[in-house]
Amino acid sequence: MAVVIKNATIVNIDEEIHGDIVMRDGVFVRVGGNAVAEPEDTVVEAEGLCAFPGLVDMHVHLRDPGQTHKEDILSGCAAAAAGGVTSLVCMPNTSPAVDSAETVAYIVNKAKATGIHVYPAAAITFGLSGSGCCDYEALKKAGAAALSDDGRPVEDDGMLLNALREGERLGLPVLCHCEDLTQAAGGKVHEGRASRLLGVKGMSSASEYADIERTISLAESVGARVHICHVSTKESIDVIRRAKARGVKVTCETAPHYFIYTCEKVLGRDADYRMNPPLREEADRLAVIDGLLDGTIDAIATDHAPHSPEEKADFVKAPNGVIGMETSLAATLTFLRDQLSLPEIARLMSFHPARILGIPGGEIKIGAPADLTLVNLSEKWIVDPTRLHGRSRNAVFKGEELTGRVKATYCGGKRVF
Ligand code: DOR
Ligand code: ZN
Repeated sequence: MAVVIKNATIVNIDEEIHGDIVMRDGVFVRVGGNAVAEPEDTVVEAEGLCAFPGLVDMHVHLRDPGQTHKEDILSGCAAAAAGGVTSLVCMPNTSPAVDSAETVAYIVNKAKATGIHVYPAAAITFGLSGSGCCDYEALKKAGAAALSDDGRPVEDDGMLLNALREGERLGLPVLCHCEDLTQAAGGKVHEGRASRLLGVKGMSSASEYADIERTISLAESVGARVHICHVSTKESIDVIRRAKARGVKVTCETAPHYFIYTCEKVLGRDADYRMNPPLREEADRLAVIDGLLDGTIDAIATDHAPHSPEEKADFVKAPNGVIGMETSLAATLTFLRDQLSLPEIARLMSFHPARILGIPGGEIKIGAPADLTLVNLSEKWIVDPTRLHGRSRNAVFKGEELTGRVKATYCGGKRVF
């Protein structure tokens, strides 16, 4: 029994074609042309819809175990499916942190029921505390797909070097949250006009790019590959562009809010626009777009970071973070469609993250996992946080009119949305 998608615009990494897709036994068995369905097959008419490779979101907080009032593995994966995300990396800043084989195994097991490919990132240091390095071999054996202390930088050079070397040896990508806490700890918004007008502590651009420079230098010194999370400043992009030019094995991601919004958004004291790193200036926003256009930025991830309405109620006390999996593709299509082709968007949101992580997926081709999302490119909708599928409501694009809407998502050939 197969699923036959008829008459779709098929978006792949280097071309768009019109035709049919057949999925059987979890993989694509036909891409393009005219498929003849057998009586037992499920036929989906997709005329007018785009078939994108299922998105690979390499930066997600599922909050499970321990903070399931914000999100859990099931609700987070429902949000993923609704946004067209079929593979995701979940970050280890849970409670307890993902620093033991038991916790990795808990996530892997619970995720089996979701129909989404969930790849746990394990912690670099115990409890993300910087107090010592975890047993990466045991974490990998349990199912960890990457290493990260996301939410915090690894401040100790020796520990970061050890993780970079061990990550290289074990084939575990190291995903670095770069932030100089001696500058930025306790910061609420971008340092500059926004922090001055609001009278709160700022997070400077330098607190991000200086730590990216340190991280890249360490990776370069041992010839290891490194991935930089949520790049948001123009200087960060320059640092990474220059490192790539001299052959450093560095990759990086940004998130839609960094190329769509600026720190003007926080002036209304709404904590749903507060995240770390923070929304920056217009020049940074434009530099992020340049980085996406010239290949300096490899991937678009969401940093989906659910927090409850109670936690987000007080502008200053609220934790950092915004949710984004249900809006990332629509927001990217809405704001970058005139600058990026559909195959380029598919590369940034699906193919590149899959290759950086070394996981299957990322393209619609025969033999690849049958992960895809069907999108109506012209449907307009207004983001209503109360109608999203995850458990939290802190949607950074709330109230925004977006053009492009996910209509169905298939993961491993099964309909998950
Ligand atoms: O905004 C953020 N939220 N940035 C991070 O680095 C962590 C994340 C979270 O866990 O809420
Ligand atoms: Zn982070």
